[in-house]
Parts: sequence; C-alpha cells; structure tokens
Amino acid sequence: MNAPLEDEFGDILEKARDGKNWSVDDLARAAGVPVGALRRMERYEIAPSDDEARRLAEALDLDYPSLLAIARGTWSPKPVPADPGPFDMVCLDLLMGSYPVKCYLVTCRATGATALIDTAGNPRAVIERARSLGVTPRMILLTHAHPDHAGGLGMLDREFGCPAWIGPDEPRPAGSRDLRFVADSQSLPLGALAISVVFTPGHTAGGVTYRLGESLFSGDCLFAGSMGRANASWPGLFHSVTLRLLTFPDPFRLYPGHGPATTVGEEKRHNPFFRGKAPA
Ligand SMILES: [Fe+2]
Repeated sequence: MNAPLEDEFGDILEKARDGKNWSVDDLARAAGVPVGALRRMERYEIAPSDDEARRLAEALDLDYPSLLAIARGTWSPKPVPADPGPFDMVCLDLLMGSYPVKCYLVTCRATGATALIDTAGNPRAVIERARSLGVTPRMILLTHAHPDHAGGLGMLDREFGCPAWIGPDEPRPAGSRDLRFVADSQSLPLGALAISVVFTPGHTAGGVTYRLGESLFSGDCLFAGSMGRANASWPGLFHSVTLRLLTFPDPFRLYPGHGPATTVGEEKRHNPFFRGKAPA
C-alpha cells in the first residue's frame, strides 16, 4: 500500500450524507443500517459488513466496489509518475500545527522561474525549503483562502516580494501587498511555461485549480478516493469534479492539498463518488 488516504470510510459516509442533506437517522432509514452502527462507522470505530457497505452505497449513490475497497483498505492510488513537461515540481509535505497539508513549488527548467502553489500555512518551512532548493518564487498561486492553504502570506511576501493570486470569489487572505485575482481559463506565464486557471468552486465559493502541463493542483476539491468538504455547495463541488477535473485525459495528475497524489484515470475508476459519473 502507498500513502494513507486523506479520507476514510467514515468521512465518505458523512460527505455523501451531506450531499443528500440527510441526518444519520435519515441514512439509517434509507439503508436499513442501525443508527448506532452508523455513528460508530463515522467515528472510525467499526467497519461495515459487505452487505452494509452495499446498502449504504445504494442509498448514497456511491459506487459499491470502490466504497468497499476503501472500507477494507485495499485501494490507494498507484504512485504517480513525474509530469513529462519541461518543469520540476516539488511537493512540500508540511504541517500547519499538527495538521498535515501539502503545497507545491513548480519551476520552469528553461528559465528557473518558480511559482509556489498554496502556502501550507507554514511560511517558515516553505522559505527554508525554497532556499535549500535554490529557488525564489515569483508568484504565489492560492487554490482557496483557508488558512492551511493561504496562511502566512505576510512572511512570504516579505521574503519573496511577489504577487499572490486567488479566485475573485474567495475571502481576501491577509498579508500580501500585491493580491491579484485570477479569471477562469486565464493563462499565467511562468518563464517559458503557462499555468492555466480552472475555476473549481464548491469546497469554497471561489476555489480554483491550477493546471501546468499534465498536472492539476486542485486544493481541497478532491482527495484520492473521496471529495473535499462542500462548504460552499455540494452540487457545485460535484460538478467541478465531474465536469471540469475529470474531463482531463486519464494520465493527468491530480495534486490535492491533503493526502496522496492521484490521476484522473484512477479517480474515474476507483472514487466511490465519481466512478461512472464523469462524462465518458
Ligand atoms: Fe480547504
């Protein structure tokens, strides 16, 4: 097995319930599973039987084999090969307090121009890592404004003195003296390369994904085998994944803000929320 998934069976149940606006009692009635057992599943205390997992999948419109594989711990995405494009990508696996979060440094090989994608809310660690790699970000691209993705901009601004970009419908994170707003489909130059903007709202109102080559930096839109929490809109988030992210070709890499990297193809085949739901 590879890196542990961000979401367990219990998280998936809770997020799928949220999509239906169901209480635990509603789900218990719909799936014929006792309320007490459901509560314990959502607290990661017990695993479902095969039959319970099947009934829960049916009630929640989840893909049963994919859901069962996650309940049994038999699936995680295959290791993702490096993007063939002319850039280097370094994933910074950091902690904001005790909470694991990822951010990314991407560097154009031809020019050395570097962008930081999200901050992990840990500017000291980002600065240290950038120094050790010998790179200086010239732009900070924020997928959304949550503190574990956009915190620490003040220190990063003082160190790197570069603009930070964010979706126009996000709250304004503090600390940048040069905060700019991206537009959907906008192309942002990075040395000889271009990073394109894909609006992917739902986790937050103005969440965006950044695409470079065959890599998608998608923040908290989707996790391997699960979806983000739909703080702004559950159907909005579902559509962002099915109608935007999963319409890229299968080998495209998905680099989320938490948990392991995955690919469009892996998620189309193994994500209980999305298997069979993205356009062919
Ligand atoms: Fe978030």
